[in-house]
Amino acid sequence: MIVDSVIGLDQLVAGLRAAGEPTRLRILALLAGADLTVKDLTTILGQSQPRISRHLKLLTDAGLIVRAPEGAWAYYRLTEVDSGSRLADQLLLQLDPSDPVLARDRERLAAVQRAHAEAAAAYFAANAHAWDAIRTLHVPEDAVEAAMRRLVGAVPFRSMLDLGTGTGRMLELFQDLYERGLGVDASAAMLSVARMNLANAQIQHARVRQGDIFALAMPQESYDLVTLHQVLHYLEDPASAIEEAARVLRPGGRLLVVDFAPHDLEFLRSEHAHRRLGFSHDQVSAWLAQAGLETMVVEDLSPERASPADLTVTLWLGRDTRLQTADAETTERLETTG
Ligand SMILES: C[S@@+](CC[C@H](N)C(=O)[O-])C[C@H]1O[C@@H](n2cnc3c(N)ncnc32)[C@H](O)[C@@H]1O
Repeated sequence: MIVDSVIGLDQLVAGLRAAGEPTRLRILALLAGADLTVKDLTTILGQSQPRISRHLKLLTDAGLIVRAPEGAWAYYRLTEVDSGSRLADQLLLQLDPSDPVLARDRERLAAVQRAHAEAAAAYFAANAHAWDAIRTLHVPEDAVEAAMRRLVGAVPFRSMLDLGTGTGRMLELFQDLYERGLGVDASAAMLSVARMNLANAQIQHARVRQGDIFALAMPQESYDLVTLHQVLHYLEDPASAIEEAARVLRPGGRLLVVDFAPHDLEFLRSEHAHRRLGFSHDQVSAWLAQAGLETMVVEDLSPERASPADLTVTLWLGRDTRLQTADAETTERLETTG
């Protein structure tokens, strides 16, 4: 939480007015733990949809929460804009978590999340054959994940963005390293699975939202680590996706791309919606360079000879070099002036 700046008088009064009502404070407390729809909130709070919608509108107008449309639904979440989020954080800190009303709200939230989990499990059951078929074709996932962790290293950082987050697995994998995580995916069904997984893993410092990899609704220089794990091969224009990922990296930030090496399993295209049958080292490194990133590492994970798997998985780690350039320029200036 940032505490070294202040909130304007009008905005503070508007925020306090909006939050100064029992149901609206309960809504803020619930949104601190999860992004929720109007339907979720009506179930948890036991109030009619028009009443809940009115409370949400007042909180949104006061800049304490935001509405994020997702297909036919909209999710509400606490704002990330400094002034609003600081006020919400400070108000929530004053609340006694053992208050029986808040404790009951949390129990009902858990019940709503369990219901979502059951729906997500049904979705997975229907799609399991596709996931399992592809999984058996390449090196085990734990080997890929261990390699990703090794490349990223153990030094914590502020923020991570996982593009094409799917079930949110990357946000789980790196949960101990980032302070704030965000997953973006186009599919509402995938996002509901990701939300369930994050809730089950008790990961409160990551969120997911619907969005398009090619047009990220976020300012540049926002993230220290961006991941694209098994996503590029679905995309029409991978170079543009890498360019957009690079745009939102902070100076010195890193982009980790993981995908298949070139292969000839045509059925992945015809039956599993893959657009590209893998990528060469040079191809992805060239896209990284075009996007202004330096390729730090390229690593192949090939299946063992005895394994039925056939596909090699490649990891590319790119880095924004603006910090290095700035360091080199400073050194040069110091040398010339010294
Ligand atoms: C194989 S799955 C993701 C795997 C995930 N990264 C993981 O590590 O488990 C690919 C994901 O990319 C998403 N996707 C494909 N095109 C997208 C786009 N243009 N914008 C956002 N998400 C996209 C799909 O909805 C799908 O969830």
